[in-house]
Amino acid sequence: MSGETLLHIDGQLVRVKAGSSVAAALRVAGGVGVARTSVTGQPRAPFCGMGVCQECRVFIDGRRRLACQTVCAEGMRVETSE
Ligand code: FES
Repeated sequence: MSGETLLHIDGQLVRVKAGSSVAAALRVAGGVGVARTSVTGQPRAPFCGMGVCQECRVFIDGRRRLACQTVCAEGMRVETSE
């Protein structure tokens, strides 16, 4: 469908508005959706939304990137586990 992008998040197909960030797509998919955890094992969450805090690191097409600074592309594969 025009104006939308289809990507894979942890193997789940997710459809988002074209131009959405991966961080937004992770929210659409549900859950916290980031790879980082605290020393106690609790999931950490995106904080700044502008590339400063580094809390939104995920693997995108096999490379570690910041979800808030990456625009979704058709067929992109996002993995949230480290
Ligand atoms: S949310 Fe802070 S770097 Fe992405």
